[in-house]
Amino acid sequence: MAETQVKNNAQTAMIAPSILAADFAELGRDVRDISERGVDYVHIDVMDGMFVPNISFGSAVMKSLLGHAGVPFDVHLMIVDPDRYLEEFVTDNTGFITVHYEACEDLAKTLDHIHSLGVKAGVSIKPMTEPEVLDPYLADIDLILVMSVEPGFGGQKFMPSCLPKIEYYSRKKSMAGYNYIIEVDGGVGPANAHLVREAGIDLIVAGSAVFKASDRTEAIRAIKGLY
Ligand code: DX5
Ligand code: ZN
Repeated sequence: MAETQVKNNAQTAMIAPSILAADFAELGRDVRDISERGVDYVHIDVMDGMFVPNISFGSAVMKSLLGHAGVPFDVHLMIVDPDRYLEEFVTDNTGFITVHYEACEDLAKTLDHIHSLGVKAGVSIKPMTEPEVLDPYLADIDLILVMSVEPGFGGQKFMPSCLPKIEYYSRKKSMAGYNYIIEVDGGVGPANAHLVREAGIDLIVAGSAVFKASDRTEAIRAIKGLY
């Protein structure tokens, strides 16, 4: 993927702001606002109160944003047995649907299921999960999401233990020529984004650091590494 190579050489990355940190009473306005500031995806954090100890929102909320998002949805399903709900998250604007390795009984089957819906498939691993668990699936994965906090809540502290995992997937990708992109999620902002960019990240999720910033454009550009 030529696009990814250019990005990595320049040590810049794409960004997907997480709407978990937006103003839920003004969600359409907030999503329109960030869509106009050079973001690449809108990150949709779906939590079921079972896989993680928090409940966020479901597909109806995501679909209500269809007329507001100027960029594709990056759907992060933090739910048990995600196959039950995949169809609900498929829209013309769905870029990726990401499930958790720890939440799937048969990951190969779930990846096939996502692909059968015409959507790109992501897999996420929690902070305590070793990166090697995805080795058998790498050829079938379009996006690997490395969690840099325990999933469940926004505004947590970045865990540097994600860095060797990003390096691991980046190395595997250049050695074996896989096509997946590598994403990180949790506690990333202008002050530490360079760490994940240097490790080889392609796409950075940032919630609080974007939505709570006094200058959102500046926060987005700094996280992407544009200056
Ligand atoms: C955590 C979510 C993240 C989170 C990121 O479970 O998956 O997307 O909202 O928020 P910040 O950037 O505030 O850590
Ligand atoms: Zn997320």
